[in-house]
Amino acid sequence: MDTSIDPIAALKSDHEAVRAVLNNLEGYLKKIGSVSSDGLRNNLINQLHEITAFTDKDLEIHFRKEEEALFPVLGNYIGVETGPIHVMLLEHKQSRELSAEFKARINNYLAAKDFKSIIDLGNSFSRLLFSHIDKEENILFIMADTQLSPGEKQGIMEKMLTIK
Ligand SMILES: [Fe+2]
Ligand SMILES: [Fe+2]
Repeated sequence: MDTSIDPIAALKSDHEAVRAVLNNLEGYLKKIGSVSSDGLRNNLINQLHEITAFTDKDLEIHFRKEEEALFPVLGNYIGVETGPIHVMLLEHKQSRELSAEFKARINNYLAAKDFKSIIDLGNSFSRLLFSHIDKEENILFIMADTQLSPGEKQGIMEKMLTIK
């Protein structure tokens, strides 16, 4: 599959980048929980800004490609008010809420020194997103691949390319 012409392949390629960032995130969170020095912990928590920059920009663009390009067209076949697209939209909302809370805790770290809640929120965010992208790839994207016509896929791809 060609990521420059197949929207499902392009979205899966985004997922690979998301998985890599989540693996980094989980690595940082483990270290934050295990270091004994405050200085080292501060440095590690600072590294989390690169993760939140990714979720604010790249993950948000990915969500919008699904919400504005794929879901409306696939929704003509399977609906958007109930079923898998509805569930995916709810999970995007949960993901945005968790990542906003995670970012707020990181920004407040020097005042509150509450690294345990940063670890818990980060792990909840990671678990949610890993399971979300698994569901998309194993359920929704398979439906899209079988239901959508070549012309619909092309239209979705063109719309996705306008989302930046
Ligand atoms: Fe999604
Ligand atoms: Fe996705």
